[in-house]
Amino acid sequence: MKKIIITGVTSGIGRALLLRLNQEGHHVIGVARSQERLEILRPLLKAPFDLIQADLSQTKDVIQAAKDIMNLHESIDVLINNAATVPGSLVLSEEGHEMQFQVNHLAVVTMTHTLLPTLEKANGLIITTSSDAHKPAKYHQDRLERIKKYSLMGAYSETKLYNLLFTKAFNRFVDTNVFACAVHPGLVNTDLGGKDTKGMMQKVWRFLARRGITPEASTQTYVDLINGTLKDHEYVSDRKPSKPTKVALNNSNQDHLWHHTNTLLNIKWKTKKA
Ligand SMILES: NC(=O)c1ccc[n+]([C@@H]2O[C@H](COP(=O)([O-])OP(=O)(O)OC[C@H]3O[C@@H](n4cnc5c(N)ncnc54)[C@H](OP(=O)(O)O)[C@@H]3O)[C@@H](O)[C@H]2O)c1
Repeated sequence: MKKIIITGVTSGIGRALLLRLNQEGHHVIGVARSQERLEILRPLLKAPFDLIQADLSQTKDVIQAAKDIMNLHESIDVLINNAATVPGSLVLSEEGHEMQFQVNHLAVVTMTHTLLPTLEKANGLIITTSSDAHKPAKYHQDRLERIKKYSLMGAYSETKLYNLLFTKAFNRFVDTNVFACAVHPGLVNTDLGGKDTKGMMQKVWRFLARRGITPEASTQTYVDLINGTLKDHEYVSDRKPSKPTKVALNNSNQDHLWHHTNTLLNIKWKTKKA
């Protein structure tokens, strides 16, 4: 039995992961923003499990959720950074960041950083749900957030690129026994891009999503990673190692995002000696 944290469990891939991993006998710790919707999950789960309410668009909530988990558990085996948001128009977080940047990137880094000591006690694993949607993204050192000219797909693609850049930078820089990897779960039939959009964008996204695999089917890659069937690969897709773009593999992009994000969040890591 492993202790596994999953963020964004009230729908889609996160919900399917929560139910499957619980069914397979793991101690799941589900994190979501709606207490009401977490309560709907409670009767579907068998003990032991924990459900933690946190709005990942607020750094203080992310830190509090991680601390609540650390108060309950001395060690954690797996952290699955899965939650993401895709607003149809520009939304700023309370901290003044574009919302996709805040939830899809900053919350991932904050959660990982806060929980790292607890993951280290179990030689843990971090799995961040990225996407092949990172492929069109370029890296703009002088414009990491799409605030002036918001584009839903532009911001989504870039934040999924940041998931990969962060994963690679984490493995390069942090002096730890914890390994980080990123997953492309495939095209999955969820309402990720439908619930906060309108009009044609909503129609197109929902039309494409219907061609995807079920959330349940998408969980197998995560299960392979957790069971160690797929090991030491930094990016995996459909149960196989996958290759991110050159932009994601570029060391200076990784360095820049790493330093910029750590400065923004005011965090320091135990780094490897040069
Ligand atoms: N679907 C695909 O084809 C596909 C492909 C590649 C990658 N992905 C990635 O897969 C992951 C899961 O997405 P999904 O497709 O399963 O979509 P989803 O059903 O919309 O799941 C996203 C989850 O994140 C949660 N979330 C959003 N904002 C949050 C916040 N501020 N605080 C806490 N939780 C928040 C959502 O909560 P609510 O339920 O409250 O909205 C939801 O549970 C994402 O990282 C996405 O980028 C999806």
